[in-house]
Amino acid sequence: MTNLGNITAIIGTQWGDEGKGKLVDILAEKYDWIVRATGGANAGHTIYVNEKKFVFHQVPSGALQLNTKMIIGNGCVINLPSLAEEIQLLTNEGISLAGRFFISDRVHLACDYHKKIDVLQEEMKGGKKIGTTGRGIGPAYSDKINRMGIRLGEILNWDAFETHYQNNLATLQKIYPGLEHDANAELAEFKKHREALLPYITDTVLLLHGEITAGKKILLEGANATMLDIDHGTYPFVTSSNASIGGIVTGTGVPPRKIDSIIGILKAYTTRVGAGPFPSELNNETGEYLRAKGGEFGSTTGRPRRCGWMDTVVAKYACMINGLTHINLTKLDVLTGLPTLRIITGYKVHGKLLESFPSDLSQLEPANGFEPEYIEMPGWTEALDNCTSFEQLPANAQAYVTKLEEIIGLPMTFIGVGYNRNQLITK
Ligand code: GDP
Ligand code: IMO
Ligand code: MG
Repeated sequence: MTNLGNITAIIGTQWGDEGKGKLVDILAEKYDWIVRATGGANAGHTIYVNEKKFVFHQVPSGALQLNTKMIIGNGCVINLPSLAEEIQLLTNEGISLAGRFFISDRVHLACDYHKKIDVLQEEMKGGKKIGTTGRGIGPAYSDKINRMGIRLGEILNWDAFETHYQNNLATLQKIYPGLEHDANAELAEFKKHREALLPYITDTVLLLHGEITAGKKILLEGANATMLDIDHGTYPFVTSSNASIGGIVTGTGVPPRKIDSIIGILKAYTTRVGAGPFPSELNNETGEYLRAKGGEFGSTTGRPRRCGWMDTVVAKYACMINGLTHINLTKLDVLTGLPTLRIITGYKVHGKLLESFPSDLSQLEPANGFEPEYIEMPGWTEALDNCTSFEQLPANAQAYVTKLEEIIGLPMTFIGVGYNRNQLITK
């Protein structure tokens, strides 16, 4: 097994849904702690155990490894009733979180009225919708940045919490006059879950630093992905937090120098849910093939995911921003059956090669002279499901992986060949 050190971060390199949850679940066995750093219920991390499907939205994807402890870090925003529901679903499966799950007292709340504002904001955008998950993520992070957000720790003092909640809602109703909300119903819902959630709430920064000092192994679970990062992604078609390495650091309180390895999760092709530029998108039957074979439907909203070729401009950009040390190439098996595979290697505007991913998204429109540069590789017809080593992969699949390593400049340490736990090659 590759030596990843004591503290490892896992980060999506594309537009999300690369398969972060699967690797977190597999590695969790070897880690003492799994820590979510950013995002909220917009994430959907899928894990299969003996054909049973689990989707984690807010609870870290280490829950199924019963000896592993978990933290929701301060950088996340959480919706309490959905979190309670997620915990209940796990309890129904015999998976208890008691004593092994903690939530930062600094985490901000994404209330149901934030969800309503999310919908209102999308409506106001008319034809320029982002296609959010509707989970109130943007409005909750806006409140945080506006210094009017509600932190979970406040719930310890119910009366002050209730006042802050009412004030927050009243302020937002002034900004959004159409915002109707039954505050008493939501507060009653919070009160219902409060007792059960209290034991989980703590200063997770202090907790984590104690564990780091004790030499414990910690896996920092990224959510969303680099191209959805509020600073580095395809703004404004992004989420409202730093989904890349910076967010992992601020969202947990783990200092950057303590992180030993950073694994980028890279799907063997590209997908995107929601609106925004997608230079390698395939609006044809190859795109349909990938969607059907890869089961490319959102884990959170069920929306069909847009599909396209591997884009190494994106992959290299993600390597650069995150300082990746390893890559997990996922879903290589989905490419089986395609006669020719395309890899995007550069972006040209009016024949001139761009140096990196541009901030001006209009440069990515064909009408403005955009054209992707690409190479083609021969495909393979063999199923990869039972391959357990790199050498067992068909020659053309090996060549595809080697070519990506060459272009991106990092080893594909882990290669996914199916959704099951055992369908992971370590190179
Ligand atoms: P995440 O948000 O990054 O955790 O990814 P999602 O769970 O939203 O989407 C990834 C999907 O691909 C899930 O349904 C996984 O079970 C599945 N998956 C992950 N790795 C592989 C793989 O190597 N091969 C196949 N066929 N499916 C995979
Ligand atoms: P995981 O962790 C895929 C996308 C949404 C939308 C944009 C903004 O499962 O990879 P938001 O609700 O965050 O305001 O939506 O970001 N998005 C994701 N797409 N996977 C995710 O998470 C995503 N999280 C946000 O589809 O385009
Ligand atoms: Mg997902």
